[in-house]
Amino acid sequence: MITQNTVELYKSWFDNYVNQFVRQYPELAENIGIKADHSRKVSNEIVGIAENLKLNKEEVLLAETIGLFHDVGRFIQFVKYGTFSDSKSQNHAELGVEVLKENNILKDLSKEYQQIIYESILNHSRAEIIQDKNEKIIFFSKLIRDADKLDIWRLITEYYVVKEQKENKTLELELPDKDEISDIVFESIIAKKVVMKESMKTLNDFKLLQISWLFDLNFDYSIDRLYNKKYLDKIFETLPENLQISQVKEIVNKYFRNHNESFTY
Ligand SMILES: [Fe+2]
Repeated sequence: MITQNTVELYKSWFDNYVNQFVRQYPELAENIGIKADHSRKVSNEIVGIAENLKLNKEEVLLAETIGLFHDVGRFIQFVKYGTFSDSKSQNHAELGVEVLKENNILKDLSKEYQQIIYESILNHSRAEIIQDKNEKIIFFSKLIRDADKLDIWRLITEYYVVKEQKENKTLELELPDKDEISDIVFESIIAKKVVMKESMKTLNDFKLLQISWLFDLNFDYSIDRLYNKKYLDKIFETLPENLQISQVKEIVNKYFRNHNESFTY
């Protein structure tokens, strides 16, 4: 059983866990705070999707837990390596599962719930969900992947607005901010494929990768929400105006319109 009370306990554990890092590394407080805030907002976002899909109370609570804990590995990653780039450090989803296991956080849950939470966390950052006989693992992995993307879009579009005054290289994965777009990145987005993290060389590549997440949303509700929040418009505003970018816009526009005729870009 997972109850409202269980989730409240997880939330206070999470607050304390984060505060320890802030106290120990006050100079890193800003980025720690950004990830803590992201975790809480992803748990709200995932509840929004789960309720829209009319899941039962327990399933909603399970989803909320996955949202709260999906990035729990980010804090150790950041204090140990000073980056949120997995390729420059360690896989943050695996780190997160270790943190939950070492602290015995999920001890009161059934083995099945524990497995769903661990596997969904591992799947959230993979290029694709790995196949599993347990359909619930696939389903909750889809939920967390959509919720995570929606809140990253919120976070980075808020950041791009203040970037001039308050640059944060960590949020840009330390990528160089130059006009170039890598061919492989452009080609994959034109093919409506999610850009592979490994192919990013510039900040523009990263922005295009974030735009390409549109093609990987699992639920209609998430596409509606992305559209209504205008996150992709806001990313496009930060990109150079050139032929490549207008082609990308056209692809995005069509994708939205195929989803809902009234969606224009
Ligand atoms: Fe993550």
